[in-house]
Amino acid sequence: MSTRLRFAMVGAGWWAHAAHLPALAAHPQIEFVAVCDPDAARADAAAREFGAPAAFTDVAEMLAAVDIDCAVVATPHTTHRPVVEALLRAGVDVLVEKPMTTTAEDAWALVQLARDLNRILSVGLTYQYAATASQVREVVAGEIGELVCVNAEFSSETEGLFSTVDPLSAQLDDASKPHGTTYSNPLLSGGGQGQTQLTHLLGSLLWNTGKQAEEVFAYMHNRGLTVDVVNALTFRLDGGTIGTATSTGTTPEGSPVRHRIRYHGTRAVLEHDLLKAEAWLFEAGGGIRHIENASELPAYARSAPVPAFVRLVRGEATNPAPADVAAASVSLIEAAYTSAAEHRPVEVRRGEIETS
Ligand SMILES: NC(=O)c1ccc[n+]([C@@H]2O[C@H](COP(=O)([O-])OP(=O)(O)OC[C@H]3O[C@@H](n4cnc5c(N)ncnc54)[C@H](O)[C@@H]3O)[C@@H](O)[C@H]2O)c1
Repeated sequence: MSTRLRFAMVGAGWWAHAAHLPALAAHPQIEFVAVCDPDAARADAAAREFGAPAAFTDVAEMLAAVDIDCAVVATPHTTHRPVVEALLRAGVDVLVEKPMTTTAEDAWALVQLARDLNRILSVGLTYQYAATASQVREVVAGEIGELVCVNAEFSSETEGLFSTVDPLSAQLDDASKPHGTTYSNPLLSGGGQGQTQLTHLLGSLLWNTGKQAEEVFAYMHNRGLTVDVVNALTFRLDGGTIGTATSTGTTPEGSPVRHRIRYHGTRAVLEHDLLKAEAWLFEAGGGIRHIENASELPAYARSAPVPAFVRLVRGEATNPAPADVAAASVSLIEAAYTSAAEHRPVEVRRGEIETS
């Protein structure tokens, strides 16, 4: 494929500015053709700054006016399904930000739609685009033996993101900063730390293990806010693996944050530090192998999803964050919210995973 792929950016807020717009503008195999955001000033400003010739306030209008091959979607969580659905139906391959959707029904519906229409659907689960991600996945699949147990931990300074409910701030804020209500209004976010951060942790965990969750029991705290800030889950995966995951947005500024998963196998234990994109394999007999991040990319490679998506669409690489595995993590998170609300173990909705 020699022609450039015609890309659109849908959503021109914080993460579009921090990760995707610069990547779209810089990629030699991309023709950046349009920006779409219901906030016309944002759409116009992003199109001007990053060199797209057209700006729109509505996805349907954009699709009627411009020929588009691919789109990157970075809009509030609960808009992901309708936006992605419109794009897929128009024949567009889509890279959608995490969480893929806020409900299992929406996630699996998009997986099915992409399959039916033979379109590519990837999710912006950034850790899966790290240079070491595929090595870690291979070791978890093979060298550690039977996976008995997993412990996952995610801490971040995100509580502030969940604190703003004043809609005025949404009108006054700067497009390149986190939006006032995107993360704090449950109608837009579908939840707090669970939708925003736990999604990274469980997305990576399910991708690395190749398993789906069967059942979960969860506790969550809102700490007086409208959405959850702290999550603790116990779950069972396929084949009897059991695990725990905790996630808190309360890390005080300046304290170290941890994004780690420990995979306990019958032959070895692998500890994956997602934040540093490195891992240690602790083998039977005492051997220790370090899987280091030898890439020039920063460990948290926020600009990596766009080039990876280009390679995928051009048939040059596999999908680092396929929608079906992401949908399995949406299923687990939705069941965890139900469990926390109803104080009971909840069965996790399963879907068909084709990606190997
Ligand atoms: N991968 C990561 O590490 C990472 C980091 C931060 C944010 N994100 C994700 O990126 C997405 C966007 O987050 P953000 O912080 O940029 O939010 P934001 O509120 O700053 O920006 C979202 C933009 O989408 C626009 N929008 C709303 N509805 C739309 C629609 N129907 N069509 C087009 N545009 C629409 C809004 O006007 C806004 O400008 C979220 O899914 C978020 O979780 C991912």
